[in-house]
Amino acid sequence: MPAPNFARTKPAKDPAARDLETWRTLWPSGQPEKSVPLLKALHILTREGTLNADSRRKLTQVLHLTQMLRPALEDLLKDGGDPVLADVGAGKSYLGFILYDLIFGPAGRGSVFGIETREQLVASSRDLAAASGFDRMQFIAAPIAEATLPGGKADMVTALHACDTATDDAIRFALRHEAKVIALVPCCQAEVARLLEGQSGPLRQLWRHPIQRREFGAHVTNVIRGLVLEAHGYKVRVTEFTGLEHTMKNELILAERHQRSNAQARGELNRLIDQLGVKPALLDVMPA
Ligand SMILES: C[S@@+](CC[C@H](N)C(=O)[O-])C[C@H]1O[C@@H](n2cnc3c(N)ncnc32)[C@H](O)[C@@H]1O
Repeated sequence: MPAPNFARTKPAKDPAARDLETWRTLWPSGQPEKSVPLLKALHILTREGTLNADSRRKLTQVLHLTQMLRPALEDLLKDGGDPVLADVGAGKSYLGFILYDLIFGPAGRGSVFGIETREQLVASSRDLAAASGFDRMQFIAAPIAEATLPGGKADMVTALHACDTATDDAIRFALRHEAKVIALVPCCQAEVARLLEGQSGPLRQLWRHPIQRREFGAHVTNVIRGLVLEAHGYKVRVTEFTGLEHTMKNELILAERHQRSNAQARGELNRLIDQLGVKPALLDVMPA
């Protein structure tokens, strides 16, 4: 048998190296290597600097969100702007870290506040911000409903998978802080399904069965959230957050303020509430 000619055989690229190459092409930064320690700390890259199923899912979400939010953030940074972004229900604050790494850091302007009840997560985020040299990142350990930013203003508010009615707290927070842009990816919701239970009326077949009531309740909750924001003068777009193969909580509500209020949206909201016969607590943001 002739000896194999190793000089002519191309070395098969090992999967880790291939992953790393993929990640480098995807990461929207001129110097992707600089982001490696941060991405490892956020588990968007594994300790070895490669991707696994979980980190791949996070990477896809983060890249998609960055792409969705970048135009609004760049708009806020225009003409020397120094925007304030509040990420509420922040968890490990991965969204805030990524937006700082990719947008506010290179711009040399813009601050991020992460708001999160779990003190341990806030403490580790503070450590990571210090280690990364992100000196315009701060963290507040408080419920969203009780948190107020210095100066009482936020230009952009994000809430990613903030559980149940925490997304409504995020909306109240955003209105209180007169946010120009709001990005919500709601999580599980139980309030409206509970209110619909036992509710009769012409549409009752839509929520007769518990599983359908849960799905319908979650859908109605997000429809109401969108209308509340429109009634407050926001232009609302609702799109897919990322592929369903990555997360089941997949609706992105992106709202940009363009007027003080919108009477037509207010009328639509009132009509919907009358037809359904439910009044979720979020309606407390609607002036009488
Ligand atoms: C599912 S995690 C999502 C975290 C992060 N936004 C993300 O997408 O990875 C929801 C986070 O919101 C926090 N949270 C829930 N309700 C909150 C509230 N009312 N105020 C502040 N944080 C809250 C939880 O502690 C948890 O860390």
